[in-house]
Amino acid sequence: MFDFLILGDHFNNVMEGKNRRKFIKSLSAGFAGSLLFPSFTTANDSNHIENDFLFAKEFENKEAYWELVKDQFRFAPELRYFNNASLGPSPIPVQHATQQYRDLLDGFPSKYMWGEWKEAKEKTRKGVAELFSVSEEEIALIHNTTEGMNLIARSFDLQAGDEIILGDHEHPSGTVAWEVWQEAKGVKLVRPELPLLPNNVDEIIDVYKKAITPNTKIISMCHVVNTNGMILPVKEISEMAHKKGVLVAVDGAQSAGMFQFSLHDLGCDFYAASSHKWLFSPKGVGILFARKESQHHLKPLIVARGHKDESIRRLENYNTRNLPELLGLGAAVEFYNRIGQENIHSRSYELKDYFLSKVRNNPKFKIKTPNSNDLSCAIQVIEIIGKDVREVKAKLFDNYGIDCRPMSSFGLNALRISLAIYMSKRDVDFLVHALEEV
Ligand SMILES: Cc1ncc(COP(=O)(O)O)c(C=O)c1O
Repeated sequence: MFDFLILGDHFNNVMEGKNRRKFIKSLSAGFAGSLLFPSFTTANDSNHIENDFLFAKEFENKEAYWELVKDQFRFAPELRYFNNASLGPSPIPVQHATQQYRDLLDGFPSKYMWGEWKEAKEKTRKGVAELFSVSEEEIALIHNTTEGMNLIARSFDLQAGDEIILGDHEHPSGTVAWEVWQEAKGVKLVRPELPLLPNNVDEIIDVYKKAITPNTKIISMCHVVNTNGMILPVKEISEMAHKKGVLVAVDGAQSAGMFQFSLHDLGCDFYAASSHKWLFSPKGVGILFARKESQHHLKPLIVARGHKDESIRRLENYNTRNLPELLGLGAAVEFYNRIGQENIHSRSYELKDYFLSKVRNNPKFKIKTPNSNDLSCAIQVIEIIGKDVREVKAKLFDNYGIDCRPMSSFGLNALRISLAIYMSKRDVDFLVHALEEV
């Protein structure tokens, strides 16, 4: 029923809508003459760009605004995508900007790979740094979270008997690296059990507090766990850990872009994220934050010329690399900022509230994500009571075109629903209707 390869017509339709053009132009505002979103910044357009700029506040009907945002994404026909936590889509302007970078690179490979894009790369780094309220000297541009967690786990010269704390909900990207690079040397991995549905953050903080011993060297933890979408109190745990001389590394794959926070405020030493999830960048691009005081701990995962560079750039030096995608992250950050970080933050929580208001009191369902806003945001996990989650997942896709992730670990037997900014409340209604019927 769903042919994901045939996108041509859909793409044309997407590009023809008047509002869409207007919005895309608005997204291009400020980039006239630059490489970002080049297809839309013609001389004719540029006079109207500022007037066309669509701030959410200009819309009395906020849903209409989010419908326009939705129109910037090009999904396969009839697909209803509730699976952003697995992988995010890039909006059309970001796809175009990235393609333009690819075209330029292939037009003159040697020129663009070495030197020509130095400034654009630094601009991307700065954009990312601003998004997380840190210095660009604290951001390395890498490929994904897995790489960041490997780089962190491999950097330490730990000894047998030293301990690393890894909660039981950590993603394999945040555990395998420690197993291979540290456990294999006799370093002890301590795996405390987190409560699945804590009532408050203290319950989680307590778990980490009890796990720390005089031998603990590092806590490696998710900001948002991928299993049931629970937000972990990184700030409080970092404060506690630092008092005991313990470093904190964070897997931010599911938090970067989903809601607003400052990395300095979070207080962790290191934070690795994949921008291809909630920041909608091209695939295979990621971010590694290391706060200034903790950078000396980190060593490059791949060594090449420049590995002794004193700046954080030594951690991202692969020689020839995926520069169009990396610069596409710059375009993604611009797209993100056009909508506005605060708007995205509040929309994530608005969609959560809307979804929960429709399912919370229905006896057919059980929500398996902690409720309060400091414990969850745009990932909500829901069990259809009495049904096997794999069957439900298959029916949702076959009958409704809904893609979401079934979660079986920790006895969840539940669907992981991602609520992203390209979703309207109508989409949530559609989902809820399908869940009720299925
Ligand atoms: C919590 C978490 N960490 C790490 C990853 C791995 O991300 P990547 O494959 O982009 O490195 C994922 C992917 O889903 C994740 O959810």
